[in-house]
Amino acid sequence: MQWQDNDNLASLEAMKNTAFQGGGARRIEVQHKKGKLTARERIELLLDEGSFEEFDLLKTGHGDAGTDEYPGDGVITGHGTIGGREVCVFSQDFTILGGSLGEAHSGKIAKIMDHAVMVGAPIIGLNDSGGARIQEGVDSLAAYGEIFSRNVLASGVIPQISCIMGPCAGGAVYSPAMTDFTFMVEDSSYMFVTGPNVVKTVTHQDISAEDLGGAQVHCEKSGVAHFVMPNDILCLREVRRLINYLPSNNKQRAPLLDLRDPVDRMDPALDFLIPSNPNQTYDMKILITSILDGAEFLEYQANFAGNIICGFGRLGGQTIGLIANQPAVLAGVLDVNASTKAARFVRFCDSFNIPLICLVDVPGFMPGPEQEHGGIIRHGAKLLYAFVEATVPRITVILRKAYGGAYVVMNSKHIRCDVNFAWPTAEIAVLGPKGAAEIIYRKEIQAADNPDELWAQKTEEYRKTFANPFLAAKKGYIDDVITPRDTRQRLIRSLQFLESKNKKNPSRKHGNIPL
Ligand code: HXC
Repeated sequence: MQWQDNDNLASLEAMKNTAFQGGGARRIEVQHKKGKLTARERIELLLDEGSFEEFDLLKTGHGDAGTDEYPGDGVITGHGTIGGREVCVFSQDFTILGGSLGEAHSGKIAKIMDHAVMVGAPIIGLNDSGGARIQEGVDSLAAYGEIFSRNVLASGVIPQISCIMGPCAGGAVYSPAMTDFTFMVEDSSYMFVTGPNVVKTVTHQDISAEDLGGAQVHCEKSGVAHFVMPNDILCLREVRRLINYLPSNNKQRAPLLDLRDPVDRMDPALDFLIPSNPNQTYDMKILITSILDGAEFLEYQANFAGNIICGFGRLGGQTIGLIANQPAVLAGVLDVNASTKAARFVRFCDSFNIPLICLVDVPGFMPGPEQEHGGIIRHGAKLLYAFVEATVPRITVILRKAYGGAYVVMNSKHIRCDVNFAWPTAEIAVLGPKGAAEIIYRKEIQAADNPDELWAQKTEEYRKTFANPFLAAKKGYIDDVITPRDTRQRLIRSLQFLESKNKKNPSRKHGNIPL
């Protein structure tokens, strides 16, 4: 029996060596020439050194038109660690049949997704594929359905991350689209439902793959992707950084990380952040980096809807999800894109036990036919819905403007926020002073000898009477008016207080968010 074992050992080694060569030296060279790493090189960089445990290395396709030639069937799957915590991963190998997806390939992905849910570990997909494997026909379409179903059932159970590191076209785009975070790599990745050739045939438009669905398009215009990175190496590094902020599943809390930043650190410069002229702008990121541990902030959709800022940071070592209006972009107004961006982010945080911190300086919703016809009512409602249903610890600080519906929507006391602070510079009212004075005193202003002077005078009167935090504080809508320099300390104390928060929504199959 001994000789047979040795024989098998040798065969195993030979089979593994073949599998490790992917589609062969020539195709690997082509992959490198395109500035892309191979599927295996990507896994090496993503995971802690030496931690990868591979599954199904020897699995092959079922042999239609030579598709059983390649052990592994064009995708590498398994698990390993990032920062010592388990994650599951699949990495499509473009050097084998263009990373195309058939039954065996999909079966491997489905298996690792099932394991990820079973053990409660994030799933990370490295996508580089020509789509449905043409030789396998309808079986490859069915195979996509298996993955889509798993994406949906895993949603809100384990974090799902997609990296688009090559082509991702046709119906295949809907798997990444249903994951929580999509990364794209500049110049080498693209996503579209129908490619440039079909566009040309149907609409007679000439457009390149890059202009149709490159990284810039999806990170700036469509909002399909959330992070854009210049190359594979930086992309995988950023995924590791993101994972470090997240819990492994919806039953756990995110890991604590002590950045040795004193919890009682004050920043006196914050007392002067808000300009004395209400029409003047400032950069919300100054406040964000000032209050967070070690000034470290991982921004989500940094290049999309810049009028709202979303991202992860830490306060007192604990991961928080931060949502902030950005006065420096469109005065921080809420529009369609800002609403959907923030709503999805809030829902992710709520699914995964990440407390929400909301920094408010919002003049209202964006007026105009473009926004109304684009459905600002429906999209704004998403943000409102997302905040209302969130049961994680929630804290708001109003810095300056908080007007009308936008005041309510931005995590106000009235929609179940737990701790609401305001700076002394806060202006909480139904309308901005100028618009309010115009409506209330319209007749007097029209009849006046000098209407502009009267309007300015009434505006100032309104500002003094209504545009401050004290009326809201008197009613208990604001728990405390705080000194700006103390913001970090007050947030951390509130988070500690809310640590044991226990709030549940009514039992139901699921709500019906206005999609
Ligand atoms: C089988 C495929 C393949 C596919 C590429 N290959 N796509 N094999 N099924 N879908 C193979 C090629 O034959 C080639 O094999 C190798 O992969 C590399 O392909 P190239 O064309 O040489 O590479 P490149 O020039 O970089 O072009 C990449 C590409 C192109 C743009 C992705 O290959 C392409 O257009 N492929 C077809 C894309 C497609 O129509 N897919 C179906 C989409 S619909 P060799 O042996 O020469 O190395 C879809 C539906 C999903 O996906 C349904 C979900 C419900």
